[in-house]
Amino acid sequence: MLSVVPRPVTVRAPSKVNLHLSVGDLREDGYHELSTVFQALSLADDVSVIPSDALSVRVRGEGAESVPTDRTNLVWKAAEMLAAEAGIAPDVEISIVKGIPVAGGMAGGSADAAAALVALDELWHLHLDRDTLSGFAARLGSDVPFSLHGGTAVGTGRGEKLLPVLSRNSFHWVLALSKGGLSTPTVFRELDRLRAEGDPPRVGDVGELMHALAAGDAEALAPLLGNDLQAAALSLAPDLRRTLRAGVTAGALAGIVSGSGPTCAFLCTDADAAVAVGAELSGAGVCRTVRVASGPVPGARVIDPEPEG
Ligand code: C5P
Repeated sequence: MLSVVPRPVTVRAPSKVNLHLSVGDLREDGYHELSTVFQALSLADDVSVIPSDALSVRVRGEGAESVPTDRTNLVWKAAEMLAAEAGIAPDVEISIVKGIPVAGGMAGGSADAAAALVALDELWHLHLDRDTLSGFAARLGSDVPFSLHGGTAVGTGRGEKLLPVLSRNSFHWVLALSKGGLSTPTVFRELDRLRAEGDPPRVGDVGELMHALAAGDAEALAPLLGNDLQAAALSLAPDLRRTLRAGVTAGALAGIVSGSGPTCAFLCTDADAAVAVGAELSGAGVCRTVRVASGPVPGARVIDPEPEG
């Protein structure tokens, strides 16, 4: 008898950089009220799912050794959530190929969670609409809805309430990846501590940044990039100051800490400039490795898997 070998479903989900991140008050639920502008970048994770005897998670690629493969991984929770919704057992093998730095401030874990939701929706033929998937995403983490959404968007609330932003052209980035990671709650707590003691810088109004995005103007956008979490990340990882300086010296238009860090993101004039800045920065001894990326790119989407090489 012919047996049908199930084919995996593979989904690619983008990383993100916060072009503008304004952190407001600490809420009673332990989260901070945010106002942010996300941009999805081409540096991505691929997540494949295939039916199996039981739920399992495998991880390879960038920083794979420090990613949990048990129920603490967001993809595990995503599988349990969707299976409960569908009334089936979550018996799948989930394989993650990391391109996004782990604990790097680029929403790598959120990308995997969003990718798992899209992949399992497809594998199990659930045909859930985008709003329902976004609801699951928001339960998994504050950045997961944006990993699903992609593009450029304003995030409010915990960061999970999204509105798309008009953005013309592609922007070109160099990412400086650090040796270690920073824990997001630790960075938020450090910001609370700095604010209790003093007055760390706060980003201003977002209006001009919206104009620069609509015009697709990298030179205009560069001086408007800002991140309230940067002071906290620099307080916990002071060496990042050197990294930020080195990127600008290498020819970037501007550099910021991405989200809660420690990845630093440098906006460049164009694709060629990004390659040149990346080469210079990788020789400067101020980071573990560099990557070149562009944005905005779409959110989590099914792709044809690359042949195993
Ligand atoms: O939502 P997520 O699980 O990704 O958030 C991780 C942690 O980051 C939260 O537990 C909280 O400490 C911090 N956080 C915050 N305010 C936000 C988002 C995250 O304080 N808006």
